[in-house]
Amino acid sequence: MHSDSALIEEDVEEYLRAHEHKTLLRFITCGSVDDGKSTLIGRLLYDSKMIFEDQLAALESDSKKVGTQGDSIDFALLVDGLAAEREQGITIDVAYRFFSTENRKFIVADTPGHEQYTRNMATGASTADVAIILIDARKGVLTQTRRHSFITSLMGIKHVAIAVNKMDLIGYDEAAFTAIEEDYRAFAKGLDIEHITCIPMSALGGDNVTQRSAKMDWYDGPTLMTYLETVEVENLTQERPFRMPIQWVNRPNLDFRGFSGQIAAGRIEPGMEIKVMPSGKTSRVSKIVTFDGDLPEAVAGQSVTLTLEDEIDVSRGDMICASEHPAEITDQFEAHLIWMGDEKMLPGRPYIMKTGAHQVPVSVTKLKHTINVNTMEEHAARSLVLNEIGVCNFSAERDFPFDIFRDVPATGSFILIDRITNATVGAGTINFALRRASNIHWQALDVNKSTRAALMHQTPRTIWMTGLSGAGKSTIANLVEKKLHALGKHTYTLDGDNVRHGLNRDLGFTDAQRVENIRRVAEVAKLMTDAGLIVLVSFISPFRAERRMARRLFEEGEFIEIFVDASLETVESRDPKGLYKKARKGEIANFTGIDSPYERPEYADLTIDSNKMSAEEAAEKIVALLMDT
Ligand code: ADX
Repeated sequence: MHSDSALIEEDVEEYLRAHEHKTLLRFITCGSVDDGKSTLIGRLLYDSKMIFEDQLAALESDSKKVGTQGDSIDFALLVDGLAAEREQGITIDVAYRFFSTENRKFIVADTPGHEQYTRNMATGASTADVAIILIDARKGVLTQTRRHSFITSLMGIKHVAIAVNKMDLIGYDEAAFTAIEEDYRAFAKGLDIEHITCIPMSALGGDNVTQRSAKMDWYDGPTLMTYLETVEVENLTQERPFRMPIQWVNRPNLDFRGFSGQIAAGRIEPGMEIKVMPSGKTSRVSKIVTFDGDLPEAVAGQSVTLTLEDEIDVSRGDMICASEHPAEITDQFEAHLIWMGDEKMLPGRPYIMKTGAHQVPVSVTKLKHTINVNTMEEHAARSLVLNEIGVCNFSAERDFPFDIFRDVPATGSFILIDRITNATVGAGTINFALRRASNIHWQALDVNKSTRAALMHQTPRTIWMTGLSGAGKSTIANLVEKKLHALGKHTYTLDGDNVRHGLNRDLGFTDAQRVENIRRVAEVAKLMTDAGLIVLVSFISPFRAERRMARRLFEEGEFIEIFVDASLETVESRDPKGLYKKARKGEIANFTGIDSPYERPEYADLTIDSNKMSAEEAAEKIVALLMDT
């Protein structure tokens, strides 16, 4: 074993103690293998002696076998080797490596450099304090340098080291280095990066990586390692106003009531005045309780339980804030959004937003523009695809406490989760609230749904029929309405073909337009149900996400989903409007079942097999279901 690793083997406890008091720096490296990124990380690991000797021996012999560096060690082999080992069987997009020196501990996030990997880079950057951006000295500032810098600044990284690598290949030329530095600084003026340090180096030769280079005596700045060991970043989050999202309310007995969570920003001590958001109630901290006893103070990153001087209402998801700088509250905001989903982002579709301790359903109400990560140009667009970045307006289902990302990154950023697959599909940073919460109130009226329903002697409902075009939805809806009418019920039918002539005449059949089509119809059905009616909705409504969104607008039991199931062969042979024939000939694009998907319901309240059951029988069944419940 080599150096530190010997200590790990002999006395792990002592090793850990020695490391406990060192500060931790997280950084990300941006660049491609061609820029010498792997060589650079390999050298940092090697020089900090955190490689086990058996690995080292293998490296030396491998380098001789396949390396490109003659008898010296090919550091790129080390990093690529580790990556290959990890990636067996699963795709790891961000590789985290740990190493340490006498002065600091480091976690480096390494992401593939290719331009499709915005998602990976954003993930790696989201937890980093510093970014090292590699520039090939022969090539200068490239498109990818701009892309890396933009994502770095978007993720709130304030410290950037520009590693101008391969200085050996341009004869360690000071003028060339200065030109690159000036070029970069001019470009970076437009970004939100506060501290830039440019370092000329040769990762291959080790110049200015950990050892000062004799070949570049004109350079008097730090080596990369000195920079990493000394750059001051750790107090930033502690200097922000206090924020602690409540993960749970700790109430073991009647005498104790504490609020537990991880401090997201700032510091706290007993006696400090706090404000609980969204309620706005104030109190003072009486104790900071931990498993190991009470603390005189606590800072960002620590998990603690706070007790307060007053008995005020605080629940999970609330945020305890410094009372002089409380978080804002909103349900409408603008944010930068990095799309990470394989399926595209669709305005109007509901996603779960996770921020602090909160989970709130949100949807994009407007995609204002996308940003080309290479040129920073803005473009108009209807949706975002994987790795695209856009500026969007969001609407949340309820108020939530938040900060502007620039002010408090920890509580100003969020991730979006797909409601059905549970996958993370986006990451965002909040720019500002669009309106203060609660200046538009839902009018509570004295004449309401139940008084109207009572007058009509019926239970208001929405009967949502979904299925392929030609499956028989409209025919069945029509029969159901006739039967209900005969029973003296008050009804209305919303039919795709009809609504698309009026309210939705501006919408076609792309995925995004169908999402909006269903959103509007669901809202109209909700209003009509509120008016006391029994509403029949007959729309293909091909996507699960929107049918689910529609269901959520209604009260329990008020929304009944009916799947009118018919095979594609059946509907194609029926083809009442001749549309399938046209779609097959390519005369109509995005036709459901042909070149646009239909997602079958998983939990329909009733499925009607229209291959087997007549429309009359189906209608009977639906009316019976309504009368039953
Ligand atoms: S939905 O998918 O957005 O729910 P909707 O029910 O409103 O569709 O409209 C479907 C009707 O529009 C079909 O019954 C058919 O008459 C007509 N139509 C025209 N073009 C298409 C298309 N590309 N895909 C499906 N239906 C189409």
